[in-house]
Amino acid sequence: WDIRINVMTLFPDMIYSYVGESIIKRAVEKEILDIKAYNIRDYSENKHKKVDDYPFGGGAGMVMTPQPIYSTYEKIMEDMDELGLNSDTNKKSRLIYLSPKGRTFDQNMAKELASEESITFLCGHYEGVDQRIIDLIVTDEVSIGDYVLTGGELPALVMIDSIARLIPGVLNKQESFEDETFEHNLLEYPQYTRPREFMGLEVPQVVISGNHKKVDEWRLEESKKLTKKRRKDLWTRYCKEINVKTNKKD
Ligand code: ADE
Repeated sequence: WDIRINVMTLFPDMIYSYVGESIIKRAVEKEILDIKAYNIRDYSENKHKKVDDYPFGGGAGMVMTPQPIYSTYEKIMEDMDELGLNSDTNKKSRLIYLSPKGRTFDQNMAKELASEESITFLCGHYEGVDQRIIDLIVTDEVSIGDYVLTGGELPALVMIDSIARLIPGVLNKQESFEDETFEHNLLEYPQYTRPREFMGLEVPQVVISGNHKKVDEWRLEESKKLTKKRRKDLWTRYCKEINVKTNKKD
């Protein structure tokens, strides 16, 4: 395997139902990707398999207790040792805690993580996990955006999906990365396929002209127009990077 992904969760079926489908499934079958979900509840030493408790100091909701998470982590470390991963000579596996308080996930982080040999995700629920778990084992606290979800499973899957498609052999056509959205800080140009006319709307003349140079120019212009209109943040970076001096605000 090129990359081993561990997921600590209270809902392993959520992870398996997604990675058991489509492109991610193919990557697992091709043995590019090895994904294992660990059910945190299985490692609770409480007689009722409890995994949460009231917050010290009061407040709304429940907090995930440290023991079940830490024991799950120890089990993962054992499994990793058996797989020959995470040994002293290799670098330690990144442990990512999904939380709206984290650093915002983006394409650059996906690229960076795609080069790791193993990654572990910790999915929280309720009001989150005991801070000592974060202090003891978490290496990265990551958010997928400024909105609040009920748990870390969907964010973990979002990250797994975007990381997996960057690993060589997962997608069929590697060239499909070159023009894609976020490359060179631009949003992608519009795409068209057959038929040439649909519901009275024609495909722009230039894309069926057969003139590749003209097509490339048109696509770059469209990318620039869209990025400028929709994403000022990316547009600013694009302008800086290609060293374009523009005084216009719009
Ligand atoms: N858990 C709840 N909301 C989240 C978010 N936006 N990103 C990552 N983890 C979360």
